[in-house]
Amino acid sequence: MTASDVLSLALGMPKAELHVHIEGTLEPELAFALARRNGVALPYADEAALKAAYAFDSLQSFLDLYYACADVLRTRDDFRDLMLAYLERAAADGVIHAEIFFDPQTHTARGIPFATVLDGLDDGLAEGARRWGISGRLILCFLRHLSEDECLATLAEAEPYLARIHGFGLDSSERGHPPSQFVRLFARCRELGKPVVAHAGEEGPPEYITEALDLLGARRIDHGVRAVDDPAVLTRLAEEGIPLTVCPLSNTRLCVFKEMREHSLPRLLAAGAKVTLNSDDPAYFGGYLNANIRAVHEAFHFDAATWYRLARNSFEASFASDAEKTAWIARLDTYFAAAR
Ligand code: HPA
Ligand code: ZN
Repeated sequence: MTASDVLSLALGMPKAELHVHIEGTLEPELAFALARRNGVALPYADEAALKAAYAFDSLQSFLDLYYACADVLRTRDDFRDLMLAYLERAAADGVIHAEIFFDPQTHTARGIPFATVLDGLDDGLAEGARRWGISGRLILCFLRHLSEDECLATLAEAEPYLARIHGFGLDSSERGHPPSQFVRLFARCRELGKPVVAHAGEEGPPEYITEALDLLGARRIDHGVRAVDDPAVLTRLAEEGIPLTVCPLSNTRLCVFKEMREHSLPRLLAAGAKVTLNSDDPAYFGGYLNANIRAVHEAFHFDAATWYRLARNSFEASFASDAEKTAWIARLDTYFAAAR
């Protein structure tokens, strides 16, 4: 197989996406359309000016813009349109299942009711399933720059809607906001019977990964790419089969790694970690899942077996039922068998 055959194979694979923030899929075109529709002013003259601001030097420099742009999201239809736009692009990249983060506190803090956000996102998921056959679930993320008490209040607001929330996560500014600050919050999430994930080891140290596992009961680690800085943490992740939702373009755009060739992805794979590939905030970081696959292909030239492993990991690491996982993996196997 030539390198370009391997790339085509990887781009066309059926796969799951497990780390994407719906607010991070807000493309400049939609942001300006919603700004006009809602009579909201964005702090940029036009789409080109907004795109020119996508030059980040850290997670925080990105988050500042990400939260500012979210201000255009006001109505149930806005959230529906945002979700549909993501699902259309994801489906075009071969994504057949997505576990999608949403940040309700970004919206409730602006006076948007929790139900407006959730209803709109669910409208989009239902329409996406009809149009493209894509399966989607929501994971509610708490903002770690806020206090644990504020997050507990958000959890109380979410409790009437638990059937529509698949799991809970932790995102936003990592440095200075360790998982240990949210022990009570995540104990409550687990009591409610939901799987828990957490961003850890993106900009923060490997100890935050250990805290997320031991103190929060995280079942997957979002990013986790700094695990390579502590061999004991990396060995543990591999031995326990804890999935890492790695986002290569995000990590290079936010300067976690200077360039793709320096990314820890090959070291994580070599250590036997259960890695998945994801797009994080694709509107801001240069593309959706297949753009990440292209960038990884160019830097590392993985073989077909590695791409198969990454796609298979994405299904195995999902929070779907065993029956769903088995069916998706059978689809993946059929795809690879036909390509041989
Ligand atoms: N890290 C932390 N918080 C986030 C991210 C991220 O990559 N994207 C959106 N919120
Ligand atoms: Zn993220």
